[in-house]
Amino acid sequence: MSDKRVMPRHIAIVMDGNGRWAKKRFLPRIAGHARGVEAIRRTIEGCLARGIEYLTVFAFSSENWNRPSEEVGFLMNLFMATLEKETDRLHANRIRLKVVGDTSRFAPELQDAIVRAQKKTADNSALTLTVCANYGGQWDILQAARHLIRNGIGAEEMTTERLASSLALSYAPDPDLFIRTGGEKRISNFLLWQLAYTELYFTDTYWPDFDDSELEKAIVSFQTRERRFGKTSEQLV
Ligand code: IPE
Ligand code: IPE
Ligand code: MG
Repeated sequence: MSDKRVMPRHIAIVMDGNGRWAKKRFLPRIAGHARGVEAIRRTIEGCLARGIEYLTVFAFSSENWNRPSEEVGFLMNLFMATLEKETDRLHANRIRLKVVGDTSRFAPELQDAIVRAQKKTADNSALTLTVCANYGGQWDILQAARHLIRNGIGAEEMTTERLASSLALSYAPDPDLFIRTGGEKRISNFLLWQLAYTELYFTDTYWPDFDDSELEKAIVSFQTRERRFGKTSEQLV
């Protein structure tokens, strides 16, 4: 059983394997995406029950535009429909929703729905759910640097702290635990800066099959890790 006293504050997840989950069942890839929404719901519940403060999920990467246009279109519609369907439930559960990424490329109606959902849930504090959409770690670092330069920050004033505070997720502590489902062992341009000292956990389970016991396994694994942050073991005791 996981230990309540040493829960990660922030869990970040690459929700991968929807397409393969569907293919295994002779279903179209999009069926896997639709089922993936249920896994997000379960994971939110699991985080709420454990008192985890921040959950960040990778929903659509900067590179996912390279997929067939029908799949991209389905994902956009699914995002819109899920926002419309779930925002009230998020709000009732005191969840603050943040959508992070270059949303300017989305349809105006989707952009409006994102703004509305974020506004409605802005003062909630049980859990901060961040959905990374048209997000890329490289985009994030670039937009932070541009923001600082635009504000007249010169080379000498460019510090780690300044850059970190201009990143899209500056309101959250860096993730303690990174989970990637679907078997691939890569970051795929997710939170490049913020994952510097995050504990990494990979599972072959496809995202639509991810449930509370999978979340529990990841947290238990996290709790066996010694986080040294460059120090020696001896210095930690
Ligand atoms: C992750 O599942 C969902 C998105 C990237 C939107 P995939 O669609 O990448 O599923 P696989 O990797 O093809 O199985
Ligand atoms: C990463 O998954 C992006 C999301 C989960 C949204 P991909 O399936 O797109 O990653 P790659 O392309 O296989 O690395
Ligand atoms: Mg994939």
